[in-house]
Amino acid sequence: MNEPLPPHSQVLDRVLVLEMVRVTEAAAIAASHLIGRGDEKAADHAAVEAMRKAFDELYIDGTVVIGEGERDEAPMLYIGEKVGGAPGKGPKIDIALDPLEGTTITAKAGPNALAVLAAGEEGCLLNAPDVYMDKLAVGPGYPHGVIDLAKSPTENVRSVAAAKGVKPEDIIVCVLDRPRHAELIAELRAIGCGIQLIPDGDVAGVIAVTDENTTVDMYMGSGGAPEGVLAAAALRCVGGQFQGRLLFRNDDERARARKWGIEDLNKIYQLEELAKGDCIFAATGVTSGSLLQGVKHLKGGKMTTDSVVMRASSGTVRWIRGEHHE
Ligand code: FBP
Repeated sequence: MNEPLPPHSQVLDRVLVLEMVRVTEAAAIAASHLIGRGDEKAADHAAVEAMRKAFDELYIDGTVVIGEGERDEAPMLYIGEKVGGAPGKGPKIDIALDPLEGTTITAKAGPNALAVLAAGEEGCLLNAPDVYMDKLAVGPGYPHGVIDLAKSPTENVRSVAAAKGVKPEDIIVCVLDRPRHAELIAELRAIGCGIQLIPDGDVAGVIAVTDENTTVDMYMGSGGAPEGVLAAAALRCVGGQFQGRLLFRNDDERARARKWGIEDLNKIYQLEELAKGDCIFAATGVTSGSLLQGVKHLKGGKMTTDSVVMRASSGTVRWIRGEHHE
């Protein structure tokens, strides 16, 4: 059973949900010129600049709550930066963004790079520090509580398999291909379940559990906490369950979390604590992947984009194919 839909937000109404796609489209197009060029930084920079500019076209009084880093680390789209063309006048919204989710993927022309953002009313998106997050996700249609980050990977796979009416060996889990996941992968192999190892891009990896075409049942393992909040916003819109726990490697990271008001450093966050109330999620493919097609450059300066925009309060998911001219 999925959670009931959240109350409709009039603040987000005024933001023109579809306009959010213009912002992700602009970032994706800018990054697409650098696909396969081996330069992560240049691709990221192009996406950031284009997204920053596109926000100015929107009638919003926006604040970046998840962005490119803290003010002293990032010249643009830093945490706390005001964005939008109507400061002090437009609706106040919080924005979580990643102008290029998958910088390495883009540099290597791999799959699943996205330009992505989530928007919610002020205070609705967790201000997650840029640390790792342990993530656990399953698609829609399962009983509430079928996954639990406090339990072992084996217990979670067994629980989902039982709810799906299959054997644990029939479950497919998506995991980021990282040395730090060696133990997790060994445990999953011991159960005999399938593992889809992805090189990067866990926003698309988590969302894949909601799409029956991908055959992926669950997502497990650690990745960026900001990406965790973005993925949670998407799951709020399309259904599914997600839990996240911040992981800290040193005192500096713990201090960052406290600075953003996080007191309980071991807390397991439920979906609704990562993205509360009504929210919007928008993404445009930079390179083709499980969720979206990448930007295509055609003859005569024509380009096509493939985007999705979703809203939690209505559960509406819109797939948008754009045609653009250079
Ligand atoms: P970038 O766009 O910053 O390269 O992030 C890609 C990504 O794979 C994310 O999807 C994921 O959350 C994170 O990196 C994992 O971090 P790490 O590469 O340190 O394992």
